[in-house]
Amino acid sequence: MQTLSLSYHGHTLIITVNRPDKLNALNKTVIAELGGVLDDVYNNPEIKSAIITGSGNKAFVAGADITEFAGLNAHGGKALAEKGQQQVFDKIENCSKPVVAAVNGFALGGGCELAMACHFRIAADNAKFGQPEVNLGLIPGYGGTQRLPQLIGKGRALELLMTGAMIDAATALQYGLVNYVVPADGLMSKALSLTEVINTKAPLAIAGCVKAVHAGFTKNVNGYETEMNIFGELFDTADAKEGASAFLEKRQPAFKGL
Ligand code: COA
Repeated sequence: MQTLSLSYHGHTLIITVNRPDKLNALNKTVIAELGGVLDDVYNNPEIKSAIITGSGNKAFVAGADITEFAGLNAHGGKALAEKGQQQVFDKIENCSKPVVAAVNGFALGGGCELAMACHFRIAADNAKFGQPEVNLGLIPGYGGTQRLPQLIGKGRALELLMTGAMIDAATALQYGLVNYVVPADGLMSKALSLTEVINTKAPLAIAGCVKAVHAGFTKNVNGYETEMNIFGELFDTADAKEGASAFLEKRQPAFKGL
């Protein structure tokens, strides 16, 4: 890995974007490496959840690497966005295991989009969020025009997209962009405390939560129907039987992901 560092905390994989001298900007290598690590998160049964964060105390990710924009034309720009969305952003959103953003500083442009693709976000009190692409004569390309209004509403999203302004962590909390704001030195322990809770739940039920919630945000898909189908299917799983038995026997369930 050239641009990521990985560490395990129990069954949680901590993925750190590691280009602190470039404020962890997303170049092609970061995107490719993130894509590969996400495949591992999908496929490795030992990994039950992932946390994405940035190296250093200044930035989560300060955006796509602007130096790679030089020489792009319409075709190249679209290809860059498409590749990133497929390899990383959509893969995070659709991951059957929780992927949490621990935002430890600037989350701008592609960094804000990376945080928004995660299932939920926790911010350090020095975090700053924004979509400054208009300052470059661009718009977001990694899903920002879609996920920002989903998370904070259309009016607030359009204001941020059109002004390119940054908001601080307290405003992000008020807008519902992040679930918690914590002191910077408590960021990872807060994120881990949440993934550790989720790691104890039935994996197929967690996967069902992701799928059903996202169905409701997908055009031409009936989220309520998706929910009913998954709800029904889960009754055929060993874990649902274990969950009910454990409750009745007044003990903790031992889920197996089956
Ligand atoms: N792409 C490439 N390099 C970036 C970058 C990005 N998105 N963001 C920061 N960097 C680099 C800077 O060029 C600088 O590199 P250098 O030391 O080789 O000159 C280094 O990271 C540190 O950034 P710097 O601008 O000196 O830090 P700062 O504290 O003065 O400002 C920011 C911090 C985040 C406000 C500023 O870096 C910035 O505006 N970055 C771009 C944000 C952006 O527009 N993102 C969306 C891209 S689509």
